[in-house]
Amino acid sequence: MLDIIRSLPEQLKEATRLEIPDIPVGNYRRVIVGGMGGSAIGGDVARDVFNDVDFSIETIRGYDLPAYAKPNDTLFVSVSYSGNTEETLSLLNQALERGLSIVAITSGGKLADISREKGIPLITIPSGYPPRGALGWLFGAMAMALEKAGLLEGVVDAMERTAGFLKSVEGELGGKESLSMDLANKFYRRLPIVYVPADMVSVALRWQAQINENAKQLAHINVLPEMNHNEINGIKHPVDVVERSWVVFLKDRDTHPRILRRIEITRQLIEESVMGMDVVESMGESRMERIFYLIWLGDFVSFYLALYNQEDPMAIPRISSLKDALSREG
Ligand code: F6R
Repeated sequence: MLDIIRSLPEQLKEATRLEIPDIPVGNYRRVIVGGMGGSAIGGDVARDVFNDVDFSIETIRGYDLPAYAKPNDTLFVSVSYSGNTEETLSLLNQALERGLSIVAITSGGKLADISREKGIPLITIPSGYPPRGALGWLFGAMAMALEKAGLLEGVVDAMERTAGFLKSVEGELGGKESLSMDLANKFYRRLPIVYVPADMVSVALRWQAQINENAKQLAHINVLPEMNHNEINGIKHPVDVVERSWVVFLKDRDTHPRILRRIEITRQLIEESVMGMDVVESMGESRMERIFYLIWLGDFVSFYLALYNQEDPMAIPRISSLKDALSREG
């Protein structure tokens, strides 16, 4: 898994060379990404990275498309690394029935078969990764698709620069004596709590999922400023849990100044209740670099935490058992 995590910059770079089929260029007001788990997160990251565009990017995790997904208006991106995730295939069927413009991203499976059969533009990414280990491919393919659809520009350059930047910080993020080792050590036998500015919620979702899947550990996340209006009051009970929690606030140079101030006051208010706290600021020039910096940090943290927990970071036995049980029932 460490090698897979380390391959993120190469994935982003290689993804710029993916073969992108023609995608209908339309007057899209929204992009809906349909997917689950490690495939869905690419949609969330795209929304947070491309936050200055005049269309919305939304990820739907589940079986049903919202009523507002309409032809001409919506580009539907169907993403499943395996190509066999039932919720994702259900969304795809609905998108086909509604006549939406569709693009598919997968390494194979039924999603590839259906796309070929129905003539859906298909982007094939390499197989052999666990889906959560293919974020560079999944995000990269999506960004390239949105550029081809006329919605984004400068994607290749941004991804190449991000890949180069990540390589330059690999040692400090993921090496021995790194920030990720330090945080994994603090999270060990504790409840990790990750707070992020709301415009970077994808980063917290990724930290949580990676800690769950790789380290087999619970993690709690929330966003600022919203948590200042409810959760801040709850950081007290159950005392046994809260006093064993370690809080990490993630921030960015573009974070709203009032949110930065809120982080400071929140720290003072919860200091007595939790075991410890850290604040980590993103690094990098572009927003893509800064978001991937924080994501990659969390990926490394989850790997080292798996080692502390003596868990195999590659294994996802309960997810696999659940998929098997459901597919046996048909
Ligand atoms: C496994 C993982 C899972 C899967 C999810 C959906 O590494 O991250 O969250 O991504 O079960 O499967 P796919 O991605 O194949 O559609």
